[in-house]
Amino acid sequence: MTDMTESHTVAFPQNRTCPYHPPTAYDPLRDTRPLARVRLYDGRLVWMVTGHTLARTLLADPRLSTDPNRPEFPATNARFAEIRRRKTALLGVDDPEHRVQRRMMIPSFTLKRAAELRPRIQQIVDERIDAMVAQGPPAELVSAFALPVPSMVICALLGVPYADHEFFEGQSRRLLRGPTAADSMDARARMESYFEELIDRKQKQAEVSDGVLGELVRERLRDGELDREELIAMAIILLVAGHETTANMISLGTYTLLQHPDSLAELRADPGLLPAAVDELMRMLSIADGLLRVAVEDIEVAGETIRAGDGVVFSTSVINRDEAVYADPDTLDWHRPARHHVAFGFGIHQCLGQNLARAEMEIALHTLFERLPTLRLAVPAEEIPFKPGDTIQGMLELPVTW
Ligand code: HEM
Repeated sequence: MTDMTESHTVAFPQNRTCPYHPPTAYDPLRDTRPLARVRLYDGRLVWMVTGHTLARTLLADPRLSTDPNRPEFPATNARFAEIRRRKTALLGVDDPEHRVQRRMMIPSFTLKRAAELRPRIQQIVDERIDAMVAQGPPAELVSAFALPVPSMVICALLGVPYADHEFFEGQSRRLLRGPTAADSMDARARMESYFEELIDRKQKQAEVSDGVLGELVRERLRDGELDREELIAMAIILLVAGHETTANMISLGTYTLLQHPDSLAELRADPGLLPAAVDELMRMLSIADGLLRVAVEDIEVAGETIRAGDGVVFSTSVINRDEAVYADPDTLDWHRPARHHVAFGFGIHQCLGQNLARAEMEIALHTLFERLPTLRLAVPAEEIPFKPGDTIQGMLELPVTW
Protein backbone atom coordinates (compact mmCIF):
# COMPACT_ATOMS: atom_id res chain seq x y z
CA MET A 1 0.00 0.00 0.00
CA THR A 2 1.44 3.46 -0.89
CA ASP A 3 1.84 6.38 1.52
CA MET A 4 -0.64 8.30 -0.59
CA THR A 5 -3.35 5.69 0.02
CA GLU A 6 -2.44 5.41 3.67
CA SER A 7 -2.90 9.11 4.33
CA HIS A 8 -6.43 8.71 2.98
CA THR A 9 -7.22 5.72 5.14
CA VAL A 10 -10.35 6.06 7.28
CA ALA A 11 -9.62 6.79 10.95
CA PHE A 12 -10.93 4.39 13.62
CA PRO A 13 -12.85 4.76 15.85
CA GLN A 14 -15.08 7.69 14.97
CA ASN A 15 -18.09 9.20 16.67
CA ARG A 16 -21.51 8.18 15.43
CA THR A 17 -23.61 10.85 13.77
CA CYS A 18 -26.83 9.11 14.78
CA PRO A 19 -26.53 7.04 18.00
CA TYR A 20 -28.02 3.89 16.43
CA HIS A 21 -26.24 3.93 13.04
CA PRO A 22 -22.56 3.25 12.30
CA PRO A 23 -20.52 6.46 11.89
CA THR A 24 -21.16 7.84 8.38
CA ALA A 25 -17.36 8.10 8.06
CA TYR A 26 -17.33 4.27 7.79
CA ASP A 27 -19.57 4.31 4.69
CA PRO A 28 -16.63 3.75 2.27
CA LEU A 29 -15.67 0.65 4.28
CA ARG A 30 -19.04 -0.91 3.59
CA ASP A 31 -18.04 -1.03 -0.09
CA THR A 32 -14.74 -2.81 0.57
CA ARG A 33 -15.90 -5.89 2.42
CA PRO A 34 -14.75 -8.15 3.95
CA LEU A 35 -11.44 -6.57 5.01
CA ALA A 36 -10.12 -2.99 5.03
CA ARG A 37 -7.29 -0.94 6.47
CA VAL A 38 -8.01 1.78 9.03
CA ARG A 39 -5.81 4.22 10.91
CA LEU A 40 -5.69 4.42 14.72
CA TYR A 41 -5.30 7.68 16.69
CA ASP A 42 -1.47 7.28 16.69
CA GLY A 43 -1.26 6.79 12.91
CA ARG A 44 -0.82 3.02 13.13
CA LEU A 45 -2.53 1.05 10.35
CA VAL A 46 -4.56 -1.97 11.39
CA TRP A 47 -6.97 -4.34 9.66
CA MET A 48 -10.67 -3.74 10.00
CA VAL A 49 -12.97 -6.71 9.47
CA THR A 50 -16.18 -5.59 7.77
CA GLY A 51 -17.69 -8.82 6.33
CA HIS A 52 -19.98 -11.01 8.44
CA THR A 53 -18.68 -14.43 7.33
CA LEU A 54 -15.04 -13.39 7.69
CA ALA A 55 -15.76 -11.86 11.11
CA ARG A 56 -17.10 -15.16 12.44
CA THR A 57 -14.16 -17.05 10.94
CA LEU A 58 -11.56 -14.72 12.43
CA LEU A 59 -13.25 -14.33 15.84
CA ALA A 60 -12.97 -18.11 16.15
CA ASP A 61 -9.30 -18.17 15.04
CA PRO A 62 -6.79 -18.87 17.86
CA ARG A 63 -4.10 -16.99 15.92
CA LEU A 64 -5.79 -13.76 17.04
CA SER A 65 -5.15 -12.87 20.68
CA THR A 66 -7.20 -10.71 23.09
CA ASP A 67 -4.32 -10.22 25.54
CA PRO A 68 -3.94 -6.43 26.03
CA ASN A 69 -0.54 -6.95 27.64
CA ARG A 70 1.01 -8.03 24.32
CA PRO A 71 3.13 -5.08 23.17
CA GLU A 72 1.52 -4.91 19.72
CA PHE A 73 -2.07 -5.05 20.98
CA PRO A 74 -3.92 -2.12 19.32
CA ALA A 75 -5.23 0.79 21.39
CA THR A 76 -8.05 3.08 20.28
CA ASN A 77 -6.80 6.10 22.24
CA ALA A 78 -3.70 7.23 24.15
CA ARG A 79 -5.34 6.51 27.48
CA PHE A 80 -5.98 2.84 26.65
CA ALA A 81 -2.41 2.49 25.32
CA GLU A 82 -1.08 3.41 28.77
CA ILE A 83 -3.45 1.21 30.78
CA ARG A 84 -1.46 -1.96 30.36
CA ARG A 85 0.32 -4.53 32.45
CA ARG A 86 -2.62 -5.31 34.67
CA LYS A 87 -3.83 -8.74 35.58
CA THR A 88 -6.75 -9.47 33.26
CA ALA A 89 -9.37 -12.20 33.25
CA LEU A 90 -11.70 -13.85 30.71
CA LEU A 91 -11.79 -11.32 27.87
CA GLY A 92 -8.10 -10.40 28.12
CA VAL A 93 -6.82 -13.96 28.43
CA ASP A 94 -6.06 -16.51 25.67
CA ASP A 95 -6.46 -20.29 25.74
CA PRO A 96 -5.59 -22.52 27.52
CA GLU A 97 -5.86 -20.19 30.56
CA HIS A 98 -9.09 -18.70 29.22
CA ARG A 99 -10.76 -22.10 28.95
CA VAL A 100 -10.12 -22.83 32.63
CA GLN A 101 -11.56 -19.48 33.76
CA ARG A 102 -14.55 -19.69 31.44
CA ARG A 103 -15.41 -23.21 32.63
CA MET A 104 -15.51 -21.95 36.19
CA MET A 105 -17.99 -19.22 35.28
CA ILE A 106 -20.34 -21.08 32.92
CA PRO A 107 -22.63 -22.64 35.60
CA SER A 108 -23.48 -19.14 36.90
CA PHE A 109 -24.49 -17.81 33.47
CA THR A 110 -26.60 -20.56 31.91
CA LEU A 111 -30.01 -19.98 30.34
CA LYS A 112 -31.50 -21.75 33.38
CA ARG A 113 -29.78 -19.38 35.84
CA ALA A 114 -30.98 -16.39 33.80
CA ALA A 115 -34.55 -17.81 33.80
CA GLU A 116 -34.40 -18.25 37.58
CA LEU A 117 -33.40 -14.61 37.93
CA ARG A 118 -36.36 -13.34 35.89
CA PRO A 119 -38.74 -12.77 38.85
CA ARG A 120 -36.03 -10.80 40.67
CA ILE A 121 -35.30 -8.75 37.51
CA GLN A 122 -39.03 -8.07 37.11
CA GLN A 123 -39.24 -6.90 40.73
CA ILE A 124 -36.25 -4.56 40.29
CA VAL A 125 -37.73 -3.14 37.06
CA ASP A 126 -41.16 -2.61 38.72
CA GLU A 127 -39.62 -0.84 41.69
CA ARG A 128 -37.60 1.52 39.49
CA ILE A 129 -40.70 2.42 37.47
CA ASP A 130 -42.74 2.92 40.68
CA ALA A 131 -40.03 5.35 41.85
CA MET A 132 -40.07 7.21 38.52
CA VAL A 133 -43.85 7.49 38.61
CA ALA A 134 -43.78 8.70 42.22
CA GLN A 135 -41.35 11.49 41.32
CA GLY A 136 -42.21 12.40 37.75
CA PRO A 137 -42.80 13.13 34.98
CA PRO A 138 -40.29 14.10 33.62
CA ALA A 139 -37.34 11.80 34.38
CA GLU A 140 -33.76 11.25 33.27
CA LEU A 141 -34.01 7.63 32.15
CA VAL A 142 -30.31 6.69 32.34
CA SER A 143 -29.94 7.50 36.05
CA ALA A 144 -33.52 6.60 37.01
CA PHE A 145 -33.82 3.29 35.16
CA ALA A 146 -31.29 2.16 32.52
CA LEU A 147 -28.29 2.14 34.87
CA PRO A 148 -29.80 1.03 38.21
CA VAL A 149 -31.64 -1.99 36.75
CA PRO A 150 -28.58 -3.91 35.44
CA SER A 151 -26.49 -2.61 38.30
CA MET A 152 -28.91 -4.08 40.88
CA VAL A 153 -29.17 -7.33 38.92
CA ILE A 154 -25.41 -7.88 38.67
CA CYS A 155 -24.98 -7.00 42.36
CA ALA A 156 -27.60 -9.58 43.32
CA LEU A 157 -25.96 -12.21 41.10
CA LEU A 158 -22.37 -11.57 42.18
CA GLY A 159 -23.10 -10.89 45.84
CA VAL A 160 -21.86 -7.27 45.79
CA PRO A 161 -23.75 -4.83 48.10
CA TYR A 162 -25.81 -2.46 45.91
CA ALA A 163 -25.35 0.15 48.65
CA ASP A 164 -21.87 0.64 47.15
CA HIS A 165 -23.25 1.38 43.67
CA GLU A 166 -22.24 5.04 43.53
CA PHE A 167 -18.68 4.01 44.21
CA PHE A 168 -18.40 1.27 41.57
CA GLU A 169 -20.52 2.99 38.92
CA GLY A 170 -18.28 6.03 39.30
CA GLN A 171 -15.10 3.95 39.10
CA SER A 172 -16.32 2.05 36.06
CA ARG A 173 -17.15 5.32 34.33
CA ARG A 174 -13.60 6.55 35.05
CA LEU A 175 -12.13 3.20 33.97
CA LEU A 176 -13.90 3.34 30.59
CA ARG A 177 -14.05 7.09 29.98
CA GLY A 178 -11.74 8.82 32.47
CA PRO A 179 -10.03 11.99 31.19
CA THR A 180 -6.47 10.57 31.47
CA ALA A 181 -4.69 7.22 31.76
CA ALA A 182 -3.70 8.10 35.34
CA ASP A 183 -7.35 8.65 36.18
CA SER A 184 -8.41 5.29 34.69
CA MET A 185 -5.53 3.53 36.47
CA ASP A 186 -6.55 5.11 39.76
CA ALA A 187 -10.13 3.91 39.23
CA ARG A 188 -8.86 0.40 38.55
CA ALA A 189 -6.70 0.48 41.72
CA ARG A 190 -9.69 1.59 43.79
CA MET A 191 -11.83 -1.22 42.38
CA GLU A 192 -9.05 -3.68 43.25
CA SER A 193 -8.90 -2.49 46.87
CA TYR A 194 -12.69 -2.60 47.08
CA PHE A 195 -12.76 -6.26 45.99
CA GLU A 196 -9.76 -7.11 48.22
CA GLU A 197 -11.86 -6.01 51.17
CA LEU A 198 -15.09 -7.63 49.98
CA ILE A 199 -13.33 -10.96 49.42
CA ASP A 200 -11.77 -10.72 52.89
CA ARG A 201 -15.22 -10.20 54.36
CA LYS A 202 -16.66 -13.09 52.35
CA GLN A 203 -13.87 -15.34 53.62
CA LYS A 204 -14.55 -14.37 57.23
CA GLN A 205 -18.33 -14.05 57.42
CA ALA A 206 -20.82 -16.52 56.07
CA GLU A 207 -23.54 -13.89 55.49
CA VAL A 208 -21.54 -12.02 52.86
CA SER A 209 -20.50 -15.27 51.21
CA ASP A 210 -23.49 -15.19 48.90
CA GLY A 211 -23.66 -14.82 45.15
CA VAL A 212 -21.21 -15.92 42.49
CA LEU A 213 -18.25 -14.26 44.24
CA GLY A 214 -19.11 -16.07 47.47
CA GLU A 215 -19.19 -19.38 45.58
CA LEU A 216 -15.83 -18.64 43.94
CA VAL A 217 -14.30 -17.77 47.32
CA ARG A 218 -15.67 -20.96 48.93
CA GLU A 219 -15.11 -23.40 46.08
CA ARG A 220 -12.19 -22.12 44.02
CA LEU A 221 -10.05 -19.78 46.09
CA ARG A 222 -9.90 -22.17 49.02
CA ASP A 223 -8.88 -25.06 46.75
CA GLY A 224 -6.20 -22.94 45.08
CA GLU A 225 -7.84 -23.24 41.64
CA LEU A 226 -7.97 -19.43 41.51
CA ASP A 227 -5.54 -16.99 43.07
CA ARG A 228 -6.72 -13.74 44.69
CA GLU A 229 -5.41 -11.53 41.90
CA GLU A 230 -7.26 -13.59 39.29
CA LEU A 231 -10.45 -13.55 41.34
CA ILE A 232 -10.26 -9.76 41.69
CA ALA A 233 -9.68 -9.35 37.93
CA MET A 234 -12.71 -11.57 37.31
CA ALA A 235 -14.88 -9.65 39.76
CA ILE A 236 -13.98 -6.36 38.04
CA ILE A 237 -14.76 -7.55 34.53
CA LEU A 238 -18.03 -9.16 35.64
CA LEU A 239 -19.17 -6.05 37.48
CA VAL A 240 -18.12 -3.59 34.75
CA ALA A 241 -19.28 -5.71 31.77
CA GLY A 242 -22.42 -6.67 33.67
CA HIS A 243 -23.88 -3.21 34.16
CA GLU A 244 -22.37 -0.70 31.68
CA THR A 245 -23.21 -2.63 28.54
CA THR A 246 -26.78 -3.58 29.44
CA ALA A 247 -27.46 -0.04 30.71
CA ASN A 248 -26.43 1.30 27.29
CA MET A 249 -28.67 -1.18 25.48
CA ILE A 250 -31.65 -0.16 27.64
CA SER A 251 -31.08 3.60 27.13
CA LEU A 252 -30.22 3.44 23.43
CA GLY A 253 -32.87 0.74 22.85
CA THR A 254 -35.54 3.01 24.37
CA TYR A 255 -34.34 5.97 22.28
CA THR A 256 -34.37 3.84 19.10
CA LEU A 257 -37.87 2.51 19.77
CA LEU A 258 -39.16 6.05 20.35
CA GLN A 259 -37.64 7.06 17.00
CA HIS A 260 -39.41 4.10 15.29
CA PRO A 261 -43.03 4.44 16.44
CA ASP A 262 -44.39 1.85 13.97
CA SER A 263 -41.94 -0.81 15.15
CA LEU A 264 -42.74 0.09 18.76
CA ALA A 265 -46.48 -0.18 18.14
CA GLU A 266 -46.01 -3.58 16.51
CA LEU A 267 -43.98 -4.79 19.47
CA ARG A 268 -46.51 -3.53 21.99
CA ALA A 269 -49.32 -5.25 20.12
CA ASP A 270 -47.47 -8.58 20.06
CA PRO A 271 -45.10 -9.14 23.02
CA GLY A 272 -44.31 -12.56 21.51
CA LEU A 273 -41.98 -10.62 19.21
CA LEU A 274 -39.82 -9.53 22.18
CA PRO A 275 -36.98 -12.09 21.97
CA ALA A 276 -36.58 -11.44 18.23
CA ALA A 277 -36.84 -7.69 18.79
CA VAL A 278 -34.06 -7.77 21.39
CA ASP A 279 -31.76 -9.51 18.89
CA GLU A 280 -32.72 -7.10 16.12
CA LEU A 281 -31.98 -4.16 18.44
CA MET A 282 -28.66 -5.78 19.36
CA ARG A 283 -27.82 -6.09 15.64
CA MET A 284 -28.93 -2.58 14.78
CA LEU A 285 -27.30 -0.81 17.75
CA SER A 286 -24.08 -2.90 17.94
CA ILE A 287 -23.00 -0.99 21.04
CA ALA A 288 -19.65 -2.80 21.51
CA ASP A 289 -18.45 -1.39 18.22
CA GLY A 290 -14.74 -2.22 18.04
CA LEU A 291 -13.56 -5.62 19.24
CA LEU A 292 -9.76 -5.63 19.37
CA ARG A 293 -7.24 -8.37 18.57
CA VAL A 294 -3.56 -8.81 17.69
CA ALA A 295 -2.32 -11.53 15.31
CA VAL A 296 0.20 -13.91 16.90
CA GLU A 297 0.92 -15.76 13.62
CA ASP A 298 0.55 -14.89 9.93
CA ILE A 299 -2.98 -15.48 8.67
CA GLU A 300 -3.77 -15.77 4.94
CA VAL A 301 -7.31 -14.60 4.45
CA ALA A 302 -9.49 -12.88 1.82
CA GLY A 303 -6.52 -12.59 -0.54
CA GLU A 304 -4.41 -10.76 2.08
CA THR A 305 -1.84 -11.70 4.70
CA ILE A 306 -2.48 -10.52 8.24
CA ARG A 307 1.06 -10.61 9.64
CA ALA A 308 2.01 -11.64 13.16
CA GLY A 309 1.96 -8.44 15.22
CA ASP A 310 -0.72 -6.74 13.08
CA GLY A 311 -3.67 -5.23 14.91
CA VAL A 312 -7.19 -6.27 13.91
CA VAL A 313 -10.42 -4.44 14.79
CA PHE A 314 -13.95 -5.73 14.30
CA SER A 315 -16.53 -2.99 13.80
CA THR A 316 -19.65 -4.87 14.86
CA SER A 317 -21.92 -2.11 13.52
CA VAL A 318 -20.48 -2.46 10.00
CA ILE A 319 -20.35 -6.29 10.19
CA ASN A 320 -23.96 -6.48 11.40
CA ARG A 321 -25.09 -4.50 8.36
CA ASP A 322 -23.51 -6.76 5.76
CA GLU A 323 -26.04 -6.78 2.87
CA ALA A 324 -24.95 -10.31 1.95
CA VAL A 325 -26.53 -11.52 5.21
CA TYR A 326 -29.14 -8.90 6.11
CA ALA A 327 -31.44 -7.56 3.39
CA ASP A 328 -32.08 -3.84 3.79
CA PRO A 329 -29.69 -3.82 6.75
CA ASP A 330 -30.30 -0.22 7.92
CA THR A 331 -33.98 -0.94 8.61
CA LEU A 332 -35.34 -2.21 11.91
CA ASP A 333 -37.33 -5.37 11.19
CA TRP A 334 -38.58 -7.69 13.95
CA HIS A 335 -39.25 -10.45 11.42
CA ARG A 336 -35.76 -10.91 10.03
CA PRO A 337 -33.54 -13.71 11.36
CA ALA A 338 -31.13 -11.49 13.32
CA ARG A 339 -29.86 -13.93 15.92
CA HIS A 340 -26.53 -14.71 14.27
CA HIS A 341 -25.38 -11.08 14.65
CA VAL A 342 -21.96 -10.52 16.24
CA ALA A 343 -23.09 -7.87 18.75
CA PHE A 344 -22.24 -10.31 21.57
CA GLY A 345 -19.01 -11.27 19.79
CA PHE A 346 -18.32 -14.80 18.54
CA GLY A 347 -15.95 -17.66 19.31
CA ILE A 348 -14.40 -18.40 22.70
CA HIS A 349 -14.94 -14.88 24.06
CA GLN A 350 -18.59 -14.62 23.00
CA CYS A 351 -20.42 -12.75 25.77
CA LEU A 352 -20.65 -14.83 28.93
CA GLY A 353 -23.56 -12.71 30.20
CA GLN A 354 -25.76 -12.87 27.10
CA ASN A 355 -28.55 -14.97 28.63
CA LEU A 356 -28.75 -12.57 31.53
CA ALA A 357 -28.52 -9.51 29.26
CA ARG A 358 -31.33 -10.83 27.02
CA ALA A 359 -33.59 -11.43 30.04
CA GLU A 360 -32.87 -7.93 31.38
CA MET A 361 -33.49 -6.21 28.05
CA GLU A 362 -36.75 -8.09 27.43
CA ILE A 363 -38.15 -7.34 30.87
CA ALA A 364 -36.91 -3.74 31.04
CA LEU A 365 -38.13 -2.64 27.60
CA HIS A 366 -41.43 -4.52 27.77
CA THR A 367 -42.34 -3.28 31.25
CA LEU A 368 -41.27 0.31 30.56
CA PHE A 369 -43.63 0.70 27.57
CA GLU A 370 -46.38 -1.35 29.22
CA ARG A 371 -46.42 0.80 32.36
CA LEU A 372 -45.77 4.14 30.60
CA PRO A 373 -47.55 3.82 27.25
CA THR A 374 -47.23 7.56 26.52
CA LEU A 375 -43.46 7.58 27.13
CA ARG A 376 -41.72 10.11 24.86
CA LEU A 377 -38.58 12.22 24.65
CA ALA A 378 -38.75 15.35 26.80
CA VAL A 379 -36.47 17.38 24.49
CA PRO A 380 -35.79 17.27 20.71
CA ALA A 381 -33.90 14.08 19.74
CA GLU A 382 -30.95 16.02 18.27
CA GLU A 383 -30.26 17.66 21.65
CA ILE A 384 -29.74 14.40 23.51
CA PRO A 385 -26.05 13.60 24.15
CA PHE A 386 -24.63 10.17 23.40
CA LYS A 387 -21.30 8.47 24.02
CA PRO A 388 -18.13 9.02 21.97
CA GLY A 389 -16.87 6.43 19.47
CA ASP A 390 -13.99 5.03 21.55
CA THR A 391 -16.20 3.49 24.23
CA ILE A 392 -19.34 1.35 24.47
CA GLN A 393 -22.11 3.19 22.61
CA GLY A 394 -25.19 4.48 24.40
CA MET A 395 -26.91 7.60 25.70
CA LEU A 396 -25.17 9.89 28.20
CA GLU A 397 -28.59 11.17 29.25
CA LEU A 398 -32.14 10.44 28.18
CA PRO A 399 -34.71 13.03 29.29
CA VAL A 400 -38.19 11.51 28.98
CA THR A 401 -41.74 12.36 29.93
CA TRP A 402 -45.12 10.54 29.76
C1 HEM B 1 -26.44 -6.06 26.16
C2 HEM B 1 -25.42 -6.14 26.94
C3 HEM B 1 -24.09 -6.71 26.56
C4 HEM B 1 -23.36 -6.57 25.40
C5 HEM B 1 -23.72 -5.78 24.16
C6 HEM B 1 -22.16 -7.36 25.58
C7 HEM B 1 -21.18 -7.50 24.59
C8 HEM B 1 -20.09 -8.32 24.70
C9 HEM B 1 -19.14 -8.60 23.64
C10 HEM B 1 -19.20 -8.00 22.23
C11 HEM B 1 -18.21 -9.44 24.11
C12 HEM B 1 -17.02 -10.02 23.34
C13 HEM B 1 -15.87 -9.03 23.28
C14 HEM B 1 -14.75 -9.47 22.37
O1 HEM B 1 -14.78 -10.57 21.82
O2 HEM B 1 -13.78 -8.68 22.20
C15 HEM B 1 -18.55 -9.71 25.50
C16 HEM B 1 -17.82 -10.52 26.34
C17 HEM B 1 -18.10 -10.64 27.68
N1 HEM B 1 -19.23 -10.20 28.35
FE1 HEM B 1 -20.75 -9.17 27.57
N2 HEM B 1 -22.16 -7.92 26.82
C18 HEM B 1 -23.32 -7.56 27.46
C19 HEM B 1 -23.72 -7.94 28.72
C20 HEM B 1 -22.97 -8.64 29.61
C21 HEM B 1 -23.39 -9.00 30.94
C22 HEM B 1 -24.74 -8.70 31.59
C23 HEM B 1 -22.34 -9.66 31.51
C24 HEM B 1 -22.40 -10.23 32.88
C25 HEM B 1 -21.49 -10.41 33.71
C26 HEM B 1 -21.27 -9.73 30.52
C27 HEM B 1 -20.03 -10.30 30.69
C28 HEM B 1 -19.12 -10.54 29.67
C29 HEM B 1 -17.85 -11.25 29.89
C30 HEM B 1 -17.34 -11.81 31.20
C31 HEM B 1 -17.21 -11.31 28.63
C32 HEM B 1 -15.86 -11.97 28.30
C33 HEM B 1 -16.12 -13.42 28.01
C34 HEM B 1 -14.87 -14.23 27.69
O3 HEM B 1 -13.83 -13.66 27.35
O4 HEM B 1 -14.96 -15.46 27.79
N3 HEM B 1 -21.70 -9.10 29.37
N4 HEM B 1 -19.71 -9.05 25.83
